[in-house]
Amino acid sequence: MSRSHNPGSHDDKEPHDGAAGTDVPFLRDEGMTQDSRRLINNGITPGAAYGDLSDWATKAPAGEKLVSTALADRVEADLAPVENKPGVPKPDPILIADGVTRRFGGITAVDVGHFEIERHAITALIGPNGAGKTTFFNLMTGFDRPDSGSWEFDGVPLKSVSPERVAKLGMVRTFQLTKVMARLSVMDNMLLGAPVQPGEGMVTALFPARWRRYEKANRAKAEALLKRFLLWKKRDDLAGSLSGGQRKLLEMARALMRDPQLVMLDEPMAGVNPALKQSLLDAILSLREQGTTVLFVEHDMAMVRHIADWVTVMAEGKIVAEGQPKTVMDDPAVVDAYLGSHANIDLGDDSVLEEAPQAPVAAWEGK
Ligand SMILES: Nc1ncnc2c1ncn2[C@@H]1O[C@H](COP(=O)(O)OP(=O)(O)O)[C@@H](O)[C@H]1O
Ligand SMILES: [Mg+2]
Repeated sequence: MSRSHNPGSHDDKEPHDGAAGTDVPFLRDEGMTQDSRRLINNGITPGAAYGDLSDWATKAPAGEKLVSTALADRVEADLAPVENKPGVPKPDPILIADGVTRRFGGITAVDVGHFEIERHAITALIGPNGAGKTTFFNLMTGFDRPDSGSWEFDGVPLKSVSPERVAKLGMVRTFQLTKVMARLSVMDNMLLGAPVQPGEGMVTALFPARWRRYEKANRAKAEALLKRFLLWKKRDDLAGSLSGGQRKLLEMARALMRDPQLVMLDEPMAGVNPALKQSLLDAILSLREQGTTVLFVEHDMAMVRHIADWVTVMAEGKIVAEGQPKTVMDDPAVVDAYLGSHANIDLGDDSVLEEAPQAPVAAWEGK
């Protein structure tokens, strides 16, 4: 299965800022791909923490073997022999949940017998509204407490652990309803997403050089992420002035400030302008190449089929199906019973992505 897809046409969507936008003559080397030049011209240095190698990997010219699909290939090979049945063990799980239940009054929102998430994979969690997907995210990340059950992240039992501690351990989530700080600037939102700064401690405060270095590194990371998510121009704007889709992008970018091992995205595409969806998709794919495991909730089945290594279907709190995207999403029982109105969508056509209307940036920037 080819991991490549056509590069999005978003590279010209973000106007370049000053020097960052000038073409560098010595980079006009025959050996360089257009995409690597574009990255550099956008001010993203290959080899920097974000927006680099992996970007090359997902943007190889059509038909060419990608530069780096090492983890994608490994995940594909590891998951290939795994049986397609709910609760199946995986070769290298990063998160293992056992008997996790959560009741609200009379309804059981989550009732997950056994569920494993494969390390380095992109796992999609799908299912109708009210299936319990968000509640499951809340439980795993310490934002809610279960009635029963246990789970471990990378071998560490997490029950009764605070969201802050969960994030420190390397599991970070975004919210279906975004939680950006509306009255802070986009850049300040990013910096707040960084791990606690040494300068905030009493002792390290005595060594300004140390925390200045730290702050500089955080700003550099924030800059690379904001560029990747096409928010760099908005860095000084209040987060409250962003459109709903841009807030989603900001929330995802902020989550990545912590270099999470596992990122859980609750409907990251919902409300995102089609022009931005491709870059969000690229960003998710590039996360995998950097070694980040991704679990995401998504209703757009074309997206799911396009980027997921594994699909898990939840309904009425339970994991009712899981497996290879093709197997699960072509299963008429799954389509009829769990995907409801989405069943009419052509689940297999990647061209849906390429044909998505590419609205001019100005149209959404003004919102
Ligand atoms: N805080 C809450 N109080 C009461 N019921 C809730 C609460 N959170 C979720 N639920 C219920 O739990 C079920 C699962 O909801 P949710 O996890 O949001 O589903 P999904 O994200 O799959 O749409 C729904 O029936 C919902 O109404
Ligand atoms: Mg939800």
